[in-house]
This record gives sequence, structure tokens and C-alpha cells, in this order.
Amino acid sequence: MKILVIHGPNLNLLGLREVHVYGTVTLKEIDAALRKEASKHHVQLMIAQSNHEGKIVDLIGKARTSRFDGVLINPAAYTHTSVAIRDALAASGLPVVEVHLSNIYRREEFRHHSMTAPACAGQIAGFGKESYLLGLLGLVGILKNENLPKKRK
Ligand code: DQA
Repeated sequence: MKILVIHGPNLNLLGLREVHVYGTVTLKEIDAALRKEASKHHVQLMIAQSNHEGKIVDLIGKARTSRFDGVLINPAAYTHTSVAIRDALAASGLPVVEVHLSNIYRREEFRHHSMTAPACAGQIAGFGKESYLLGLLGLVGILKNENLPKKRK
């Protein structure tokens, strides 16, 4: 089983960036925790971070032909703005789980709406690094047919 993990803009700055919101965890630590969890489930991960919307769209666009089974994504600020990423996720036909370190619903109002979530099987927000691990478990569950159906209506 192969899962594509995408970290959106500014997540490369975790550990330095707004530590009162995101804590001191670094992206490297998140990736290491994800790889450890994935190996327990015999899942292969490809992890990418980009600050560029088009690059993220391209990565998602190639996911199916690159034989990925699912996508775990933190679209970061693009969550709230990107029709292009939402469309790419929908077009991929793959199960997608959206994650956020912070609880976007208890932050500024402009963060309360996720443009991308309707193209996802589910969303996890507010648990810091654990959001990624919980999201990965959810996605693996979908792929192993342990919970929600793989296909959207
Ligand atoms: C974030 C929440 C977004 O609103 C914000 O723009 C981010 C990070 C999170 O993980 O909590 O960059 O996606």
C-alpha cells in the first residue's frame, strides 16, 4: 500500500513558526513519526512539502498514475482558498484525509471554512503532530476496508 503525504505552504517552518499555535514540533519529527507508524501497517510513504499551489496540484495529479492508493494532506493556508487543490483531490479519485495541527474552527474566522475538505473522506484537526498519525490511521482503515467506503458518491 502506498500513500502520498503532502505538506502545504510554510509547514517547512514548523518548530520556528508561531510556536504558540503549532508548538515546537518540526516537520522532520512529524515525518519520522509518520514513517514509524506507516511501517507498522506495512504502508509505504512518499512525503513532499511545497509552498507552491501548482506544485501541489501536479503532485496530486500524478498520484493515481504513480500508483498511490491514498493521499494524506495538510494543505495549510491553501485549505481556505484553493479551488485548484480541491479539484485536483476530487479528480484523483483516491481517498484523501485532510489534517491540521491546530483546530482551525477555534481560530480566526477565515480559517473556519475548508475549501478542500469536501473532496476528502475525512478531516482531523487540533491534535498537533497526532493529527497526522490519526489521519494516517483513518486512511489506512479506509484502504483496508475497515471503515468508510473508499469511493465518494
Ligand atoms: C494549518 C492551519 C491553517 O489555517 C494554516 O494556514 C496553516 C497550518 C494547521 O496545520 O493547523 O498553515 O493547516
